[in-house]
Amino acid sequence: MCGIVGYIGPEGAAPILMDELSRLEYRGYDSAGIVTLDGDGLHLVKTRGKLQVLRDRLARDGEPKGNLGIGHTRWATHGAPSDVNAHPHLDDQGRVAVVHNGIIENYQSLRRELEKEGCVFRSQTDSEVVSQLLARRLEKCGDLLEALTSTMGRLRGAYALGVVAKACPGTLAAARKGSPLVVGLSDHGNYIASDIPALLPYTRKVYLLDEGEIALVYADHVEVYSEWGEPVEKKVYEVTWSVDAAERGGYKHFMLKEIFEQPRAIRDTLNPRLRDGRIHLEEAGLTDEYLAQVKRVVLIACGTASHASLVGRAAIEQLARVPVEWDVASEFRYRDPILSPDDLLVVVSQSGETADTLAALRLAKENGCKVLAITNVVGSTIAREADRVLYTWAGPEIAVASTKAYLTQLLCLYLVAIEMASAKGRLDAATYDRYIRELQTLSDKAQTVLTSTTAEQELAKRFCHSRDIFFIGRGLDYAAAMEASLKLKEISYIHSEAMASGELKHGTIALIEDGVPVVALSTQGAVAEKLHSNIRAVKARGAVVVCIAYGDSSVEDGVADYVLYIPRTDDLFAPLLSIIPAQLFAYYCAIERGYDPDKPRNLAKSVTVE
Ligand code: M6R
Repeated sequence: MCGIVGYIGPEGAAPILMDELSRLEYRGYDSAGIVTLDGDGLHLVKTRGKLQVLRDRLARDGEPKGNLGIGHTRWATHGAPSDVNAHPHLDDQGRVAVVHNGIIENYQSLRRELEKEGCVFRSQTDSEVVSQLLARRLEKCGDLLEALTSTMGRLRGAYALGVVAKACPGTLAAARKGSPLVVGLSDHGNYIASDIPALLPYTRKVYLLDEGEIALVYADHVEVYSEWGEPVEKKVYEVTWSVDAAERGGYKHFMLKEIFEQPRAIRDTLNPRLRDGRIHLEEAGLTDEYLAQVKRVVLIACGTASHASLVGRAAIEQLARVPVEWDVASEFRYRDPILSPDDLLVVVSQSGETADTLAALRLAKENGCKVLAITNVVGSTIAREADRVLYTWAGPEIAVASTKAYLTQLLCLYLVAIEMASAKGRLDAATYDRYIRELQTLSDKAQTVLTSTTAEQELAKRFCHSRDIFFIGRGLDYAAAMEASLKLKEISYIHSEAMASGELKHGTIALIEDGVPVVALSTQGAVAEKLHSNIRAVKARGAVVVCIAYGDSSVEDGVADYVLYIPRTDDLFAPLLSIIPAQLFAYYCAIERGYDPDKPRNLAKSVTVE
């Protein structure tokens, strides 16, 4: 997804902008550019392709001068990836430069209107209307704040903007509506960025811009205004992530690093909430009194977070006996869902910025529901707009393929399920204690799974050229199979489907022929026999079967060709361990096929557009 950076201060802007952009590379992009401003005017360099292409261009032509500038990595939405569609965009007379994240929905009508006035457009992007409109407004009124508020009044859609204007050589401007943007504060200049990791080497002090806010950023201070131009008092937010946490730390890829961080992430998410043998969720307003009266839960999320929510649904229904509705946010928001103020709506989102999930949250609030957000990013839009927040303390997740966020989402959902069940008097003390004790073993058990990756590497070598790989399971194994399948397809580009294994005979088994790999997740004792029959059925049609199963189970009695073992746990918690071999298998398949798992094609880390 697009990334925005900006700097104003005593240093030359170009090297800082390039460094900030490199810290956003993980978000996925297809072109990049920077613009700086000095006494000679705006200096624009932009190009299709990776940052290295831009670096080579700067090395060849020299770095643009100026102590003020903005930069961008673009993920194409309107207009193909190309030099001309890359950001920053200048107006047709080179007075103003703009970088934009999000989508301007009414750009076509604005463009027609501006063209009638003689304005010449160079790109096919929606973003260029912003620079053209803003330059004309600024020319008329001579005031950057007024020009920005009136331009924003004409824009429909979601955006975060970074702006520099020739007429205002001491000001970096930023505005946000629907797309995240922060202002970084320091004694050696000030910054803007769409994502905190871009700023970590420079400052930990930030202003989190709220909806409609505009920042006028100077070298020595920052002013923030509402979309109507009124001054706004902002609180400084201190970022606690370290630079190391956002770097690869000796691992070849962020994804591998994050897989190996999972035992630590489990501890960080659990430890603050387990005291005196009890679960404490009061930080999120989830007191026993509140949980006891919840009548229905609605779980909404996208992608990996929606797969974690599927496990959450099963856990809450099974333990607390409360009906749970589950949906992906992009469907939920448009299907006119039935909601009641008595519902507890839970949105799950690593980034806290996913556009569809945010829209679902807003829809629920309009319907009077209380919203609990389970999210990883403190200060994210979803965290700020929800009524209650339970943080997954996974630390920054940089790789596009979500791993440690999934595990910590599962944990938060387990904690809610167990505590709700207890508050409703549905769990006896012995079972409650048993769950707590088991939760406390999960970090070590995850560590055990990670002791050796040889089996996953060998299987990846064996299967990385397969056309299709199927993942099957029943109950919670099916929920985990969906996540396992997503991991594989998103980074290795091998076609993969997850099936509830009982469904195979209703169609998908037609695709099973000699040599087709089928990965069967086999941890759910209650349906083990049923699953084994399904495995025999695919084996009889030539499938090569890999089982993910407990080390002490008997699944390998001739049913599976290969087995990836995990330590035994309560079946309820099995998805948390069974996903780890699947993550490793996906990672090594991508490596075997020569793909960079951190930069999967067509994908972005946080999806802030619909
Ligand atoms: O930031 P979110 O958790 O809201 O993101 C939702 C999905 O885009 C995300 O989980 C996506 O499916 C994963 N990155 C895939 O690994």
